[in-house]
Amino acid sequence: MNPTRAEIDFSKLAFNVEQIRRHIHGEYPRRKIKICGVVKANAYGHGIEPVSKKLVELGIDFLGVANYDEAIKLRNEIPNTPILVFGTLIHSKLEPAKYVSILHKHNLTATVASYDTAKFINDYSRRFKNKFKIHIEVDTGMRRIGLDYRRAYRNIMRIAALRNLELEGIFTHFASSEEKNKSFSRLQLTRFYKLLGDLKKAGIEFPIIHAANSGGVLDLKDSYFNMVRPGLLLYGYYPGSGVRNKIELKPIMNLKSKVTYIKKIEEGESVSYNRKFFAKKPEFIGSIPIGYGDGYWRRLTNRSKVQIGKKLYRQVGAVTMDWIMVELGSRYNIAIGDDVLLMGEDNGVNLGADKLAKMCGTIPYEILCAVADRVERVYLNY
Ligand SMILES: Cc1ncc(COP(=O)(O)O)c(C=O)c1O
Repeated sequence: MNPTRAEIDFSKLAFNVEQIRRHIHGEYPRRKIKICGVVKANAYGHGIEPVSKKLVELGIDFLGVANYDEAIKLRNEIPNTPILVFGTLIHSKLEPAKYVSILHKHNLTATVASYDTAKFINDYSRRFKNKFKIHIEVDTGMRRIGLDYRRAYRNIMRIAALRNLELEGIFTHFASSEEKNKSFSRLQLTRFYKLLGDLKKAGIEFPIIHAANSGGVLDLKDSYFNMVRPGLLLYGYYPGSGVRNKIELKPIMNLKSKVTYIKKIEEGESVSYNRKFFAKKPEFIGSIPIGYGDGYWRRLTNRSKVQIGKKLYRQVGAVTMDWIMVELGSRYNIAIGDDVLLMGEDNGVNLGADKLAKMCGTIPYEILCAVADRVERVYLNY
């Protein structure tokens, strides 16, 4: 059995959800604010089905996924909780009528980012007795998908005239809410509020309004409306250094393996591909069966540390597809089979995805999503 695994602790997930709840209701004690748990991209690498089940058990109101494939798979496990699909509907290989009927059958909630999508769903929904639930995405500055805020009013009036849709929600998405400087996020919010005000005057109101991703949850209370959409916070990380430590969080994934091989190398000998490390003295090197094929980035070559027992050891030589090597020193007190922590937190040692991300020149999101399928996920405190 491969000893490399991602241990995912659901008591920490519960802790993070509770911290988010306390934070948002601390700002608005009397307002009912729903939480849409963002579980796209396999729950940021943590396993979409078990994580979603746990979130439902923890009383989460909505689940947010990136596309219809994720949503349909998830619906088989989660029969009742609303699933909001952030992606747009792309006319698939299937017949349009068949396609829309699959969405109806799975009771999914669609993001609508253009009039054409709304019309498409509407036209193929005639034969169903339930209206199809949609959330309209307004682009207030992200410039990814969404109705351009300058023309959204006109388009929403046209969408509102379609008979087979239920306009359940409206939302926007921040481009930089995790940064310390909030001026662009505030501009996005101003645009969104203005549109909501104009629509209200025309008699169009949405039961669910949302905007806050993790950065918004931490730092933009005007963006809560009546639903928030945190992703990264659930998994125990801050989305950026500009919003660090606003609430307490616990990383829920510990990436672990075991020491599987130990050998002595001589002074001047190199370790691994392309000879990027040379021993300065005779010393012991341990080999750990994890590499970039598991999501342990090659960029970490000669940069990261791992924890064995209570001590940290330097990773040396190029990270290979299946192995890394660590410097154990001239004497060591380690046995084959000892546990190794590669990412996460244990015994007060912090090897967080955010730290690894810094070393790799990326963001914790990418580090978490990179944990490969071949790494077994083990769920603790289920
Ligand atoms: C539409 C939408 N809402 C919410 C989120 C959650 O973002 P975060 O993980 O920063 O909370 C994402 C993720 O990028 C998203 O695309």
